[in-house]
Amino acid sequence: MRLRVNGKEVEARPGALLLEVAEVPTLCHHPHTETRGLCRLCLVEADGRLVPACATEAREGMEVRTETEGLRTLRKTLLEWLFLTTDLAQAPDLLALMERYGAEPERWGEVPGRRGREVLKDNPFYLRDYAKCVNCRRCVDACGDGIMGVYALTLEGRGLLAHPTTPLDRPLPETPCVFCGNCIQVCPTGALRPLSMEV
Ligand code: SF4
Ligand code: SF4
Ligand code: FES
Repeated sequence: MRLRVNGKEVEARPGALLLEVAEVPTLCHHPHTETRGLCRLCLVEADGRLVPACATEAREGMEVRTETEGLRTLRKTLLEWLFLTTDLAQAPDLLALMERYGAEPERWGEVPGRRGREVLKDNPFYLRDYAKCVNCRRCVDACGDGIMGVYALTLEGRGLLAHPTTPLDRPLPETPCVFCGNCIQVCPTGALRPLSMEV
């Protein structure tokens, strides 16, 4: 099928996501997990409507725009809030996106967030540094339905303070965790990382 992306005709296979035919930034989407449509970074305009490119299929004749002024402002604002609420020191891709979209987090002043949360080291293999968590939920999905099916991670809390953790906040060795490392692999910000990387 054929559609137009930023005025250029492109071909797509039936069932392809807009993400596959349009270059847009992503955060919550990961090809090995079911997470999508959460972070809104990949929003595009399709036939005049805002839709997440990671959760929307291409259609014949669709007109897609990915870099309108409104979309650029939206991404800039989302990135500024991520920066203000989260420690992005180990998320170089997000820092590069902030530069690309001219993010100026200082214009918002102080906002509540996860910065300052204590690093959890409760097992010999990896730590959980939720001050760096952007709440993409990839780890929860990788441990559950997406890859492992053991459900050692879950999501607790609401709004800005919602965060992934273990069931009842138990130490990892007291959960069904088998230390497979899949959650670390899919974490985009270093919030989950191997202890072997620590100096
Ligand atoms: S390391 Fe543990 S918590 Fe992480 S995906 Fe594997 S089983 Fe789940
Ligand atoms: S710990 Fe990492 S993978 Fe899990 S929700 Fe936070 S940022 Fe996403
Ligand atoms: S990557 Fe599409 S909404 Fe997060």
